Amino acid sequence: MEKKATILFQVENENVRHFVKDAQGNFVTTMIDDVITFVVKENVKEAASLDKVRMLAGSIARTAMKQKITNVDVSAQQLRETFHELATDDVTIAFVEGWELGTYTFDTYKSKKKAAKPELHVTDGVIASLIDQGKVRAAATAFARDLMNETPSTLTPETFPEILRDTFSDSAVDVVVHAKEQIAAMEMNGLLAVNRGSKYDPAFIELHYRGDESKPLIALVGKGVTFDTGGISLKSGRNLSDMRMDMGGAAAVAGAVKLLAEMNAPVNVVGLIQTVENMPDRHSLLPGDIITYKTGQTVQVGNTDAEGRLILADGLIRAGELEAEYVVDIATLTGAIHFALGPKMGGVFGDDQLMEQVKTLGEQNGDHVWPMPLIEDYERTLNSDYADFCNISNQSYGGAITAALFLRKFVPDNAKWLHIDMAGTMESKTEGYYEAGGTGYGVRLLADFATAVSK
Ligand code: BES
Ligand code: ZN
Ligand code: ZN
Repeated sequence: MEKKATILFQVENENVRHFVKDAQGNFVTTMIDDVITFVVKENVKEAASLDKVRMLAGSIARTAMKQKITNVDVSAQQLRETFHELATDDVTIAFVEGWELGTYTFDTYKSKKKAAKPELHVTDGVIASLIDQGKVRAAATAFARDLMNETPSTLTPETFPEILRDTFSDSAVDVVVHAKEQIAAMEMNGLLAVNRGSKYDPAFIELHYRGDESKPLIALVGKGVTFDTGGISLKSGRNLSDMRMDMGGAAAVAGAVKLLAEMNAPVNVVGLIQTVENMPDRHSLLPGDIITYKTGQTVQVGNTDAEGRLILADGLIRAGELEAEYVVDIATLTGAIHFALGPKMGGVFGDDQLMEQVKTLGEQNGDHVWPMPLIEDYERTLNSDYADFCNISNQSYGGAITAALFLRKFVPDNAKWLHIDMAGTMESKTEGYYEAGGTGYGVRLLADFATAVSK
């Protein structure tokens, strides 16, 4: 049965903008002329931003879903007037995007499915392509959320390539999967080392999207650990369920390539995904082992739980072979970045100008990121007595920085490089357009970055 509602914005006072919510944070609805109405009294003291538009749309959508409302009207003109400080088209895209993501659910394993998504109707002659853009951005982000939320026995290094093949089967994206033998032939020895304890074969997946081959090649390198137990340096003392999301970087890369392809973006991008499971076993990689990379660099494994950097090294080397001009790696890499920045901001390292550029993009698209320093003096904490360097620092400070310094050793010469540590932002509570679980962080950031540097 249809149950309709409408959203009414009331600009009360230029300086005071508040949203009408009950104690549970749900929007309060009233009846106006027999129509269920969300009264949004607009104007927060802080400046309006596109991400606030998304958060607002997300919470109204979730409340509507709880109340089993099937159709909701919002007037484009009212949106425009209410958020007059922001570009009109961007506000429309953001509202639709927030709406779609706010009603995201991962209920594959719930015996009782949640209510159907309430459908949003933007009235007053809005341009259809803006609505499409909002939907496409949300769908690509939701795709990454689905991958992150999936159980670690369902999304494995063996099923992940198949999922990506299916996803991109009717698209402009070429999926190339290097299986274990090819990985060995290509001397991706970090990936092979981390894989030793797992019952699954690893995979190295390349997603080629050649939207415009005249544009500089951008390599997006994603950490795809489908479960991180720590390996022989076993993690302990906490609920490890969230370590199924240790492929969040790979999900961001796959989602970004999907978004770019669906937008027909004129960019030249390759996604490079290393997928593997980090397990303890009698065959496992051992602390004290040494990995020799294709470049000849040798690494002492001080801790098998610092596995992300071991596999990303192979991805960075591959980006060099493909002669990428821009290399951006993204990974749920360190607990230290979570301590430093908390759950709402990723850390970015690398090229100064590019860091500023992604920071600004993140402020607009909601994947917030903060520039971090590569402190030269800390590099020596990676020294090893019997290999070129070690995969962990001998000091307890600056763990996100030393991880980034490790990765820098594998960045191809002449490439412009960024490293995004998303360990803190991989998971969220229910809030705004976020649903408890995987966030899909990085999809919009990587896609918007690729678009921006290809202009
Ligand atoms: N996957 C973890 C990092 C992580 C922690 C992601 C918490 C999300 C939430 C990573 O592989 C790891 O274990 N890192 C270690 C590195 C240490 C051994 C140098 C860490 O951060 O403790
Ligand atoms: Zn680990
Ligand atoms: Zn990990």
